[in-house]
Amino acid sequence: MADGTALDDSESESAADIQASIRTDIPHSARMYDYYLGGRTNYRPDREAADEVATVFPSVFHTALENRDFMHRATRVLARSYGIRQWLDIGTGIPTSPNLHEVAQSVAADARVVYVDYDPIVLNYARALLRSTPTGRTAYVQADATDPDSILADQTLAATLDLSRPVALSLNALLHFIPDDRDPYGIVDRLMSELPSGSALAISHCTPDFDPESWAEVVSVYRNSGTPAQVRTRKEVERFFEGYDLIEPGISVGHRWRPEETARTELPRVSDADVSLWVGVAIKP
Ligand SMILES: C[S@@+](CC[C@H](N)C(=O)[O-])C[C@H]1O[C@@H](n2cnc3c(N)ncnc32)[C@H](O)[C@@H]1O
Repeated sequence: MADGTALDDSESESAADIQASIRTDIPHSARMYDYYLGGRTNYRPDREAADEVATVFPSVFHTALENRDFMHRATRVLARSYGIRQWLDIGTGIPTSPNLHEVAQSVAADARVVYVDYDPIVLNYARALLRSTPTGRTAYVQADATDPDSILADQTLAATLDLSRPVALSLNALLHFIPDDRDPYGIVDRLMSELPSGSALAISHCTPDFDPESWAEVVSVYRNSGTPAQVRTRKEVERFFEGYDLIEPGISVGHRWRPEETARTELPRVSDADVSLWVGVAIKP
């Protein structure tokens, strides 16, 4: 169980100025993830569902931490070695320092980031995502990834990113919440189709490959709590990158993707099964 210093349900309502649209009586994936990361922005139903996941897959806390660290490393590498200065980050999650723009702007102060999530609680905390450097820019769009046209048509996106220049599309721990019947491959293609050559695609995705029985149970916990979920095999994750040039080391288990780039001083010993996450970064030719 995470070292939860999370708020009481009674306290959290006033402390967070929660909007009326936020449902705190049912678990939500963004707040369960916040709990795995040791955050405070979660409620009892989130913690109960997350603990149920941890019962069937105890290393879920490692999965979450390794996922977050991959996002940091991929962002740093793209900014430093591939000249990326713009990001479209969909499925942003509740702010957790450092956020993507903080990593990008630590390399390139003029980096621009548009964050997108469909959970109103992320909007509620978006201030933390909007503290940009003076020369960079950040913006937040509330939208559903299953409607990529609404994201691409958003005025805030158009005002923040220049789509004639390379953009990194960052889909970290998002696509396993989009089952095949919502056309995740079509969504990624649609988004990438608007980005020019030199743009990047960064994905992390939970997999059943190393521990299929536990992951079948994890998926059931999410589905039973109302969150669509579908974990994917390596081959299925590879398909998202078809037509793009994977950068070294190609598709990897999360903690094996350029571990030397981490800012962490202590790395826990974890196995591929503990992490159960395929990750990759590719460039559009
Ligand atoms: C596990 S969190 C990942 C957060 C962050 N990307 C990271 O990797 O640290 C998944 C996020 O995706 C969001 N999400 C799930 N389905 C979505 C959808 N259809 N459209 C937009 N956001 C979605 C959730 O609200 C949640 O904030």
